[in-house]
Amino acid sequence: MQQKRICRGIEKIHLGYYPTPLTRLENISRETGINFYIKRDDLCGLVFGGNKVRKLEYLLAHAKAHGFDTILTAGGAQSNHAVLTAACCRKLGLDVLLLLKKRGVTETRGNLLLAQLMNIPVRFIDTDRYADVYAEAETIMEAMRAEGKHPWLIPVGGSIPLGALGYLDAAEEIAAQAEEAGFSIHHIVCCSGSGGTHAGLILGTKKLGARVTGIVVSVEEDFQAEIYNLALETAKLAGIETDLVLDDVVLKAYIGPGYAQPSEEGAAAIRFMAEKEGIFLDPVYTGKTFAGFLDLFSKGYFAPGENVVFVHTGGGPALFAL
Ligand SMILES: Cc1ncc(COP(=O)(O)O)c(C=O)c1O
Repeated sequence: MQQKRICRGIEKIHLGYYPTPLTRLENISRETGINFYIKRDDLCGLVFGGNKVRKLEYLLAHAKAHGFDTILTAGGAQSNHAVLTAACCRKLGLDVLLLLKKRGVTETRGNLLLAQLMNIPVRFIDTDRYADVYAEAETIMEAMRAEGKHPWLIPVGGSIPLGALGYLDAAEEIAAQAEEAGFSIHHIVCCSGSGGTHAGLILGTKKLGARVTGIVVSVEEDFQAEIYNLALETAKLAGIETDLVLDDVVLKAYIGPGYAQPSEEGAAAIRFMAEKEGIFLDPVYTGKTFAGFLDLFSKGYFAPGENVVFVHTGGGPALFAL
């Protein structure tokens, strides 16, 4: 029986192991002259960890409370979100179906291997457009309903207000840990993919005066307004007042050759973190995010002695797939 609790009047189900550690990385701090902290959301305890679990604690509590028995979600061929959703569904006894973009799939490695080991049904869709994936999801759900099932679709990345609440919680967790450790946070650096992590963090850290920089690794178009609106809707759902402004959404793009295509800078950043600290980042999200941090650092974006929190959002399985 999973533990449930109500947070801000909204039901949440225990899935991960929180709080995750917030640790000062001594070697990187020494090399850079800033106080470099890492928030280890890769250590949240399911699969190989990752940011999606915090979102799923709200999303799947909602699914359970509303009588949905089958979860569909979508993603790229090596989607961390999809595999973490599948693992959480297994834990909760919910049926699950993953709809993944087929393009580029050659072997059952990384997250696809993990899905296979969990015996998760996967439907590959031969498209690059999420509109096609969602249309297919609708057709599948119609058929499921006709069989008497109650399916629910979690959109890509779980980045709807209910999911972003997970990172509002994370922001509060980080703030409490920093306070306990006796430092104030100047900057937070996170990956900004579908935007839920970033939206929750800016909402939760606004009152601390910490600046959040989201590193973009997936989309070429500007999605500042989208993240801003998501943060406002999340605030509304949580019943909290916020004085966030559009300019609080700071985005820096480090996509490299393309989404899920490793960049040279990302690979160097992964090696740097591994060599200095024995911590592994991934080639799709966190490696490029750390590369973004290093580039911004080299341009004087962070002042010496500042306290910077880098959010490790997981993604490890892709190290074994690309
Ligand atoms: C490892 C990892 N980091 C970061 C992100 C981006 O998070 P968000 O979608 O909340 O922007 C993802 C999204 O899939 C991810 O898998």
